[in-house]
Amino acid sequence: MNKTLRNAVIAGNWKMNKTPAETTALINEMKPLVAGADCDVVLCVPFVDLQAAIEAAKGSNIKIGAQNVHFEKSGAFTGEISADMLTALGVEYVIIGHSERRTYFGETDVTVNKRTLAALNAGLTAIVCVGEYLEQREQGITAELVAMQTKIALQGVSAEQLKKVIIAYEPVWAIGTGKTATADQANEVNAAIREAIADVYGKDVADTVTIQYGGSMNAANAEELLSKPDVDGGLIGGASLKAQDFSVIVKAASK
Ligand code: PGA
Repeated sequence: MNKTLRNAVIAGNWKMNKTPAETTALINEMKPLVAGADCDVVLCVPFVDLQAAIEAAKGSNIKIGAQNVHFEKSGAFTGEISADMLTALGVEYVIIGHSERRTYFGETDVTVNKRTLAALNAGLTAIVCVGEYLEQREQGITAELVAMQTKIALQGVSAEQLKKVIIAYEPVWAIGTGKTATADQANEVNAAIREAIADVYGKDVADTVTIQYGGSMNAANAEELLSKPDVDGGLIGGASLKAQDFSVIVKAASK
């Protein structure tokens, strides 16, 4: 495995937190702390905070992402946001298929695939989330499951488009629970995801895909997780709401 073939990416997922004014304040606090980082730094904020985030991040190394995107271009889809609307604002990234969307809002592998294609066709970078429930881990089907989630999410995605895909492995039992996968568990599943990508696109392409770990990654455990050969970054929930903690994780990815 050759980590130098791919970008390390640390992305914050603010979930349903922060008003526009709070967004500006937190990004202003983060900017000097993450300046000069040797990894990509992304903050995925609520839709209504995107404009404030983009303004606040101007001139810094922080890129802005959304937390979801609809697959249709426009029309009668009350409450939804299209990929073109996001790019028009200057948004560069979008999280797709987060387990909270899958669990609470009926997101399926098929809609994750549709959203991924819509995001890529609009020029966004898609952070596609996969991961198992605890029962599935106990049943011993984690690797098979994430491989299938990954392959379905990427149906119809060309090798060229894959350059703008990041996969985030997020075991559902580790999200927001304080229970982190061990670095070896994270690495093992990330390697299985890379193998699934290699099945479809070949090993050379698979070796260039950034695969993050997410699920209670924090200032204390980031360094160990990120030291693993197949862990190319992190998708950070809780710790991305604290400037200091987030910057420690960014620094760990820059080593
Ligand atoms: P957490 O969230 O870091 O708070 O566990 C991660 C995520 O849901 O992306």
